[in-house]
Amino acid sequence: MKISTKAVQAGLVTDKTTGAISTPIYQTATFRHPELGQSTGYDYSRTQNPTRKAVEDALASLEEGHAGFAFASGMAAITALLMLYRPGDHLIITEDCYGGTYRLLDKLFIQFGLSATFVDTSDIEEVRHALQPSTKAILLETPTNPLMKIADIKAITSLACKTTSPIHVIVDNTFLSPYLQRPLTLGADIVIHSGSKYLSGHNDVVCGLVTAKDPALCEKIGFIQNATGAILGPQDSWLLLRGLKTLAIRIRQQQENALAVAKWLTTHPSVTKVYYPGLTDHPGRAIQESQASGYGGMLSFVVDHPRLPAQVLRKVKVLQFAESLGGVESLITFPSVQTHADIPADVRERLGISDCLLRLSVGIEDVEDIIADLAQALEQ
Ligand SMILES: Cc1ncc(COP(=O)(O)O)c(C=O)c1O
Repeated sequence: MKISTKAVQAGLVTDKTTGAISTPIYQTATFRHPELGQSTGYDYSRTQNPTRKAVEDALASLEEGHAGFAFASGMAAITALLMLYRPGDHLIITEDCYGGTYRLLDKLFIQFGLSATFVDTSDIEEVRHALQPSTKAILLETPTNPLMKIADIKAITSLACKTTSPIHVIVDNTFLSPYLQRPLTLGADIVIHSGSKYLSGHNDVVCGLVTAKDPALCEKIGFIQNATGAILGPQDSWLLLRGLKTLAIRIRQQQENALAVAKWLTTHPSVTKVYYPGLTDHPGRAIQESQASGYGGMLSFVVDHPRLPAQVLRKVKVLQFAESLGGVESLITFPSVQTHADIPADVRERLGISDCLLRLSVGIEDVEDIIADLAQALEQ
């Protein structure tokens, strides 16, 4: 099946008894055992619940993983994943990653003995130099958040394969979704998502997902999910299932709009830089085209005066000034004070996450309305 069909099939007729087209919301904490020593396959909803299972199976199918795992948020998913590692282990992470991922490593997991080196993963030499004998994982975002840099997933996985002890390559695929990029097919070991974004797609649910190729690794992740317990509840699993069905059609429209908005921004006199991998001058465009089937709906741009972001955020009417991304509604975010505030100011400045940078998650509105809204908001 093609990916758009797989998305529509998410949770389709999982209840064979009634033939319900939509997976029922199994709002139950526990399940009756038929006999001593017997189980229906479901015992207690932290361990497994049929509505959650439908969404976990859907993710595994879309990403071509062995099994899927649904969590209460993207951060809960990343936390569970980091529990695969032990004190003394080292990780390499994309330097302009989501600020919450940076904070989790820098403020919390450091207390449990994990160390991390943050590098520009679009530069394979930087990744190679960061390798240590204790490196156990490379966690990538591609495109990065918010600077839209592209990491070469295949090159990084082949680097990880050549080391003496195995290194997991983990890809946070939140920005593109499996509709545009499937890292497990490119050699990555694990894929994570903030399902709060493109997968659910309507800015109405917070959730996280993990999938992996190797059955033994999936067993470990399943153990951690059950042991730590930050699972996705049945109501939110259902919302995610419903959102997944329109994944293909939403992303196609978001991407078409994003390309038009990016091109328009490049012509605006107050805009000094536009970061979008679909623009011909984007340095990662060739790699993007070799590993993904599109460029996505996210872009960032730099304005020529630090007073402009506040004006734009105040004046937008079609776009909403809010953090998050990937929904049908267009959102505009100010990374330096919102999503990336936990990255130290000097690091932000070095990376280019400046007080003049704005990030757009382009929705499915009429693109003319989005552009007209930006035009009036940018007018000085
Ligand atoms: C790329 C990326 N990964 C992970 C997360 C964390 O996900 P959540 O907000 O669902 O916990 C986010 C949130 O914005 C994100 O943008």
